[in-house]
Amino acid sequence: MTPATAQPNDAENHGASGKSATRTLTAGAGEEVPRLVVGMSGSSAPQLGMTFLEVARELPSFETHLVLSEGARRSIELELRRDPLEVEKLADVVYDWRDMAAAISSGSFPTMGMVVIPCSMRTLAAVATGNSDNLVSRAADVTLKERRPLVLVTRETPLNYVHIKNMETVTLAGATVLPPVPAFYHYPETIEDLLRHISGKVLDQFGIKNSTFRRWTS
Ligand SMILES: Cc1cc2nc3c(=O)[nH]c(=O)nc-3n(C[C@H](O)[C@H](O)[C@H](O)COP(=O)(O)O)c2cc1C
Repeated sequence: MTPATAQPNDAENHGASGKSATRTLTAGAGEEVPRLVVGMSGSSAPQLGMTFLEVARELPSFETHLVLSEGARRSIELELRRDPLEVEKLADVVYDWRDMAAAISSGSFPTMGMVVIPCSMRTLAAVATGNSDNLVSRAADVTLKERRPLVLVTRETPLNYVHIKNMETVTLAGATVLPPVPAFYHYPETIEDLLRHISGKVLDQFGIKNSTFRRWTS
């Protein structure tokens, strides 16, 4: 169980994936490092969120502020067969999903936007209806009200009418629905290649320069 307050992750604790234990973030003189809110909800493929956090650790230009829903914690245990703490250790700052007083639940806390990766149909519905009953949906709601970029990596198939209507609603409200649909123009050879491609597509939405996947050139 995570504590009820935000936990700046100790750099010593980073490296759960075997990557570098140190992380140096860069900002212009007198400027704060931009913060990207990362939500993970309880859909299949928590690997998508874990890979995104790993990729983010390779990029020094922004901080990750992570909140795992209760469902995400369950899917991490069941599908990744890992302790959610291992995923949390990849982020710069971690919040408890129950902590509605967290910094990211207020529009006065500056962020560059939010990605929910993966995004369950329940969290999609919560965002579409403004039903902010946990910190993932509250932070997404705040992101929309502040007119900041919100990217939802929705994971379900096939889709029913309710899912599609909710996708329409969040799109009209300003969010980007980015389903983790694999592409093959980058000649993936491994599952990691497919996961990194989706991470790169998300980073592109925030204008974050990355060479996470091989881009198409004719
Ligand atoms: C192993 C597992 C896989 C799941 N996969 C999906 C999925 O791919 N998409 C989805 O919308 N819900 C999926 N669910 C159901 C959600 O976890 C459930 O609706 C949950 O209440 C979502 O809550 P959250 O959005 O707050 O995390 C899955 C549940 C489990 C246990």
